[in-house]
Amino acid sequence: MAEDMKKLRIGVVGVGKIGLAQIEAIKVIEGAGYADLAAISSRDEAKARAVCAKYHIPAYFTDYRAMLAAMDLDVIHNCTTNVVHYAINRDIIESGCHVLSEKPLTVDSAQSAELVSLARTRRVKTAINFVNRHHPVIQQLQKLIASGWFGDIYAVHGSYLQDWLFLDSDYDWRVESRYGGASRAFADIGSHWIDMAQFLLGQNVAEVLADFATFIPVRIKSISGKDGGVVSSPVAVDTEDYTGALLRFDHGAHGGFVVSQVSAGRSSGLSFEIDGSKASVRWSRGRPNIAIIGKRGEPEQILHSVGGISRNEEGPAEPAASSAEQSLGAQKNMIDSFYRSILFGEAPCYADFEQGHAIVRIVEAALKSQRSRTWMAV
Ligand SMILES: NC(=O)c1ccc[n+]([C@@H]2O[C@H](COP(=O)([O-])OP(=O)(O)OC[C@H]3O[C@@H](n4cnc5c(N)ncnc54)[C@H](O)[C@@H]3O)[C@@H](O)[C@H]2O)c1
Repeated sequence: MAEDMKKLRIGVVGVGKIGLAQIEAIKVIEGAGYADLAAISSRDEAKARAVCAKYHIPAYFTDYRAMLAAMDLDVIHNCTTNVVHYAINRDIIESGCHVLSEKPLTVDSAQSAELVSLARTRRVKTAINFVNRHHPVIQQLQKLIASGWFGDIYAVHGSYLQDWLFLDSDYDWRVESRYGGASRAFADIGSHWIDMAQFLLGQNVAEVLADFATFIPVRIKSISGKDGGVVSSPVAVDTEDYTGALLRFDHGAHGGFVVSQVSAGRSSGLSFEIDGSKASVRWSRGRPNIAIIGKRGEPEQILHSVGGISRNEEGPAEPAASSAEQSLGAQKNMIDSFYRSILFGEAPCYADFEQGHAIVRIVEAALKSQRSRTWMAV
């Protein structure tokens, strides 16, 4: 790396769960020498100070607008709650910075359309943190599918099952539409599943038939009081715990998935299977560095994340990494691909705001389908 190579100056807005995960990944990328995490913004000053100390970040702000004005940044990561994505993304674009937003891009497709057009006018690059397509084996599989190795794609099906909202004492801002948007399970984790499916197939969802269910209509929200005690209050839930969805894609594939945040014992089980006219393939985040290929009458084969296909019984060709290491790896790959496209003009393999907007439209079609009990065009 040349000494005078420009380094991207990075800022992060929101240092909750995913904000911290992204900071961990940015710190790994800093080692490559072309990005510096220059500042963070958090409304909680004590937290901002602690995060800066832990990760050796030079500056913090309690208002992201002050950070945008003061720091001469190149790229901002927006890691805030869903309903504020729109306003913060808009301010970032207006400031002339490239923007990496959390998903869903917005909770309203008029807002996401506006962001797509604004980013084009201001000539800034955009990305959405659909992180799962950045597992190396998913990138390999996409190329194999595009080459026709699996033949014509008939169908894609699978699930994304979690249990972190299994109990009525499990509260998170996502359960209330005023913070998370009108859809929860579909928009929160169904959006990840759809991004992977669209990326792998090279086809977009054109129609959806959705069945939403809310099994826990009231949850108990507990917050710590100033005296050290805990104050609990009931909250009416107006978002879905579960969705079953059927999909039709624009180039002929069919599909469907179940997403749930109340599936006991499933911490974050994301999986899919794809059926083609020559072979099928299945993948799950439990073993994210391999995909298993099936052909009728033949032994199973394994597609490896470093490329290459072997017989299943030969086992993985690379040392198994822990799931935390693999999640960090996918997150690092996602962010790195965005930085590299900004700095070196490398072809993007990440989702941009246009793709994020398309998924917001799919969420809206699913909500309409649920209400009307019919197939809905996107
Ligand atoms: N891509 C992924 O894999 C992934 C994983 C988890 C969460 N997410 C997304 O990330 C976002 C955050 O989720 P989380 O789980 O980290 O939530 P969280 O509650 O842990 O963190 C959200 C943070 O946003 C901050 N925030 C809210 N409004 C703000 C504002 N106006 N200005 C500045 N900060 C503000 C909050 O103070 C909090 O620190 C959500 O949109 C979620 O969908 C994505």
